[in-house]
Amino acid sequence: MIFTAHRFDQARIALFGMRIASQGLRDEDGHSAIMNNLDYQSIFTFRGRAYNEAMAAFPDARENERSALLELLELSATDHFLDTPAGGGYLSEGLAARFGDGLFVTCVEPAKEFGAVIDPSFEVINAPMIDVPLDDGSVTAIGSLAGLHHFKSRAPVFAEWARLLAPQGQLGVADVAAGTPTAEFLNGFVDRHTPQGHDGVFIEPGEFSRLMEENGIEVYTEELVDVPWIFPRREDVGAFCKKLFFLETASEEQVTNAIDETLGIQYQAEFDHWLMNWQLIYASGRKTI
Ligand SMILES: C[S@@+](CC[C@H](N)C(=O)[O-])C[C@H]1O[C@@H](n2cnc3c(N)ncnc32)[C@H](O)[C@@H]1O
Repeated sequence: MIFTAHRFDQARIALFGMRIASQGLRDEDGHSAIMNNLDYQSIFTFRGRAYNEAMAAFPDARENERSALLELLELSATDHFLDTPAGGGYLSEGLAARFGDGLFVTCVEPAKEFGAVIDPSFEVINAPMIDVPLDDGSVTAIGSLAGLHHFKSRAPVFAEWARLLAPQGQLGVADVAAGTPTAEFLNGFVDRHTPQGHDGVFIEPGEFSRLMEENGIEVYTEELVDVPWIFPRREDVGAFCKKLFFLETASEEQVTNAIDETLGIQYQAEFDHWLMNWQLIYASGRKTI
């Protein structure tokens, strides 16, 4: 397979007027390996609390997203699962609900305050995603949900995952795909209404597969999946998203209406709930070496 090389614009690194230097790591083209590691970490340090409050208020909203990722992995109670970046531990909580205390879970979250609400029954590591203080081959499964679209180059992240995975270890990853309405919403409406803006570098078709192949991970699946968010009432869409994305300059009603226009919201009479269209690209594989 041939993949096109993509060059992305220098990311915005201003946060409240401050310029924060990236960590100085370079990819093979000499680009900074991390688009905006420190400023993005700072953004989530700043808005992680609102994100966690939104998730606590609507714990079922993103269930489709989470289930679609967990279903890609064949997990058992003997696995050591790594959730990275874990945010407030949402993916890991889904695992605990399925496996009880059996499975050993480690959450890696770069933004310390964001990870402060992670369930203490999980091991929590506050570290950069590309420099996790765990031994080579020490985990048997890795899950990553919605945490890669602020990396300019994802190669160092996949290399770190390949290092951490034991032979035959599994990887499941999901994030926003380039060119989708979800991407347009984040870099459009969210960018205009959150103080720090939103400058996502979304996932290209074939990119996850290429990165897995380059790192000795055999590709099982790569697919764009509809994973609508679920709400009891239409107005909950705006209440949730205003907090989750820290949309300071739009009212809840404006947020709901903008989402209806860009993504679409539908009532599902059968379940008496509302669906907000959302789409992610999912990929999975297994380490062969
Ligand atoms: C949208 S949250 C997802 C968190 C969690 N997996 C979930 O699904 O709720 C984005 C996560 O990506 C992390 N993140 C993304 N890009 C990053 C970067 N370049 N440097 C550090 N952290 C980054 C943030 O700290 C945060 O945990």
